[in-house]
Amino acid sequence: MNYSNLKISIEQAQEILFELFNIKGVASELPGEVDFNFRIKVENEEGYILKISRPDEDDNYLDFQQNLLQYVEKNGQHLIAPKVIKDKKGNSISEITDSSDNKRNVRLLSWVSGRVWSSVNPQLEQLRFSLGEECGKLTQALQGFTHQEASREFVWDIAQSLWTKEHINLFSIEDKETIVRFQGVFESKFEEYSELRKSVVHNDANDNNVIVSSGLINPKVKAAIDYGDAIHTQIINDVAIAAAYAIMNHNDVLEAALPIVSGYHSTFQLQEVELAHLYSAIAMRLVISVTKSAINKIEEPDNEYLLISEKPAWEVLRKWQGISPNFAEYSFRKACGFTPHPSEDKFNSWASKNSFELRELFPSVQKNDPYNLDLSVSSKLLAFNSDFDDGDFFQFKIDQLQKKHSTKLIAGGYLEPRSVYTSSNYDKIGNSGRESRSIHLGVDFWLPVQTPVHALLDGEIVTAVNDADDKAYGGLIILKHQAEDIVFFTLYGHLSVASVSDKKLGDTLKKGDCIGYLGSAHENGKWVPHLHFQVLLSMLGFKDDFPGVAYYSQMNIWKSICPDPNLLFKSEALICSQTISNNDLIDYRKQHLGKSLSLQYKVPIKMVRGAGQYLIDQYGRKYLDTVNNVAHVGHEHPAVVKAGQEQMGVLNTNSRYLHENINTLAKELIETLPPELNVLHFVNSGSEANELAIRMVKVNTGERDIIASEVGYHGNANMCIDISSYKFDGKGGKGAPEHTHIFPLPDSFRGKYRGENAGEQYAVEVQKQIDIVQSKGRGVGAFIIEPIISCGGQIELPKGFLAKSYKVVRAAGGLCISDEVQTGCGRMGKTFWGFQLHDVVPDIVTIGKPLGNGHPIAAVACTQEVADKFANGMEYFNTFGGNPVSCAIGTEVLRTVKREQLQENALEVGEFLKTELKELAKEFPIIGDIRGQGLFLGIELVDANLEPLTEQTDYLANRMKDHGILMSTDGPDHNVLKIKPPIVFTQNNAEELLFYLRKIFAEDFMKTY
Ligand SMILES: Cc1ncc(COP(=O)(O)O)c(C=O)c1O
Repeated sequence: MNYSNLKISIEQAQEILFELFNIKGVASELPGEVDFNFRIKVENEEGYILKISRPDEDDNYLDFQQNLLQYVEKNGQHLIAPKVIKDKKGNSISEITDSSDNKRNVRLLSWVSGRVWSSVNPQLEQLRFSLGEECGKLTQALQGFTHQEASREFVWDIAQSLWTKEHINLFSIEDKETIVRFQGVFESKFEEYSELRKSVVHNDANDNNVIVSSGLINPKVKAAIDYGDAIHTQIINDVAIAAAYAIMNHNDVLEAALPIVSGYHSTFQLQEVELAHLYSAIAMRLVISVTKSAINKIEEPDNEYLLISEKPAWEVLRKWQGISPNFAEYSFRKACGFTPHPSEDKFNSWASKNSFELRELFPSVQKNDPYNLDLSVSSKLLAFNSDFDDGDFFQFKIDQLQKKHSTKLIAGGYLEPRSVYTSSNYDKIGNSGRESRSIHLGVDFWLPVQTPVHALLDGEIVTAVNDADDKAYGGLIILKHQAEDIVFFTLYGHLSVASVSDKKLGDTLKKGDCIGYLGSAHENGKWVPHLHFQVLLSMLGFKDDFPGVAYYSQMNIWKSICPDPNLLFKSEALICSQTISNNDLIDYRKQHLGKSLSLQYKVPIKMVRGAGQYLIDQYGRKYLDTVNNVAHVGHEHPAVVKAGQEQMGVLNTNSRYLHENINTLAKELIETLPPELNVLHFVNSGSEANELAIRMVKVNTGERDIIASEVGYHGNANMCIDISSYKFDGKGGKGAPEHTHIFPLPDSFRGKYRGENAGEQYAVEVQKQIDIVQSKGRGVGAFIIEPIISCGGQIELPKGFLAKSYKVVRAAGGLCISDEVQTGCGRMGKTFWGFQLHDVVPDIVTIGKPLGNGHPIAAVACTQEVADKFANGMEYFNTFGGNPVSCAIGTEVLRTVKREQLQENALEVGEFLKTELKELAKEFPIIGDIRGQGLFLGIELVDANLEPLTEQTDYLANRMKDHGILMSTDGPDHNVLKIKPPIVFTQNNAEELLFYLRKIFAEDFMKTY
């Protein structure tokens, strides 16, 4: 039948509506596969959907649909669902004759308002859970409903999906393989599948049939609409359909499906046997979809609706085939609260009745008492990943431990999150950014090379491979055991290659037989000799390999597939000690640490390790750090750590004794500064540096009036707070003290003056403050400012402002202080210090954060004249300032910046990032301004009237954190994202940052202004 002849125009739809239902409304076309659908808007009402069938539509089928809706209305009290509206004559199905004299059925249903699923971004876990919940409720409401049409033949019914086999030749060879594989899996289990529970189900919760509530924070699914595909079929098919569409456009499709399954189960309990078929049911729904698309492309090429899901369906199918069906089943079971592995309980019960000694595994060692070796992310045994790579050093550490605990067997590591695996080789990109495989699934036994390993029980060899060349895991043997009615496996990794060569698959080893010998380091990559011992309840389809580490997000599933080997040995020492929960840490902080201490992020993170531009949490999740300019040359830079460690072991004392370190640091720091600034005082923090600078000012000028910028921040000490408008003009502040004089924030984007002459105009504001001081009969002590005002929102000083301001301040007898606590030591890229961007030389420079790379060291640099006047006889003593450890660290930081050319890196990566962010600003008008220098950048979010968008900025920072990227917000209106990472930040890091910024900027909440 010709599609265009059947079309009903909008005007015709409106007429039909009025004639049949006496309703005046405005119609607009909606997509539909079978019916011609119109949305009807009526003033002050939710409105309707008008459905006009095709002439060949079966009356019986329509009767089925209307009955079904009425059944749902009666039975599903808690459900929102379209309601049947009867026509003027009281019929729930009306009839018209179209222009070609065809009889057409007409139905009117109430409109369910909200957003359609496909338009919602992001589709987070709680939203997917609510999808499952609503679908489950609907299935519950449909229990008991019967109709003869419910058992019709139907291509979209998963139970009938094997019809797709006839069309397999529509596909390319590669696609054919994928489809045939899924058809095969489905068919092979068809008998059991046919016996699964059945009822009438909605059968079409696709992404255009699901309505989501309109709220943008935690939206929920309101209803499933369009009941046209409802059918009597296996209930699990309904779950499969909801999942098949809602997991589209997710990187990790299995993870995306799990909340849907849990949600469904929470309102309609699924059975274990049903979950065993969900993997292939999801696949078969997608196989139907791509087959239908392939057919439709030929039959109705102009009906785009029919092709909507083709590309994303293929994407899911390709990812789905990479997932082990067993692993999927266990994941679904976990989502429904069953043990992930069906025999977990049985195994635990068998293991509780059967004990083994470690001596049985290693008879030659004759030790039975383990010493638990901590290799978790926070373990201090090996500080850097390079220590793991240094086999000699690692072995030395193990030998030392063994010497100290000579009667014990060094072992441990089950479910330990390990930082050694957090190198990017173990990463995948999940639904929320990068994930690392960090969770160790076996127990390691650290014993000498060639230590023999013996069988604990009789077992058949099912794997015996040599992995020394490929993955450098050495010899791997897996034994299959049958105990009572359970089958399980034990895995022996990092054996010698020779251990494997005499093994034959299918051979049986008896309890006590030798399995093999521990491999040497060169057979096992970087690993020093040890046995990786793992218990498996399933091989998951693996033959020559088996994962020994898992992603944290899947830990609870893996834990069930690979139970704790210590269930066999029952050693107290191998029971992992429980770490304090984050909630306990928070509670303690709340009670016993200063109440004004804040925590970053809505859900705070516990960091346990730093590495370069990354921070790593207790579960081994790696966060890309764009916030911490303190870790200037990279978190825990090995050279800096070593410099501190070495000096700490030798001497740490105050600066009253002669020592090279203080002189060396002074010399190397002075080399970075203009010749005028050649005297240093060392202190412990930025605050202390500014505190000292103001003392110098007072002694030098005899004045105490300070001129500072609006929203400037200079530290937490008394005097610092007094000159920090960010604090005294903010929450809890009491405004500027008598001797502090604040000029407007020199912001040329949203500030008092903008454009070309802003620098000049803001300098006039500085002059005004000088006039005020002088009008009170006092003189100016100093003018203090950062070269880029950080807390002010990364405000770059306008051109000419600093030079002009220095001039007027000096003319008034004041000193000029550059606060380089945030900006110094090469971060600016073009220059080593921020003031150098403005061609000025301050009288005093305060230096903090970057100098110690996290260690508390700071400094005040000044001219000889300022220093001489300050030395008025009163001794300057600082217990910690300038001590040999701090100075060793400071010197190594400066040397690292030079050696690794990090100033150049800051320039190169910073310029790249700034240019790309400007491109991003063209795509997302919410980005009002991109500014800053080097790796000290700001992104300001505003509406069209330049009004700040604080909530969106906060949302973005929190969403970026969800994706493993740390960002901070600042500025008087908290609408500026600050980018100030360790300056080892690479172009790849910048690209990753841009990728996720682009993703989050596209989310619905970012458009609400
Ligand atoms: C510009 C500026 N000056 C001084 C300080 C104070 O430094 P500290 O926290 O090391 O005392 C800070 C700290 O954030 C700062 O940003």
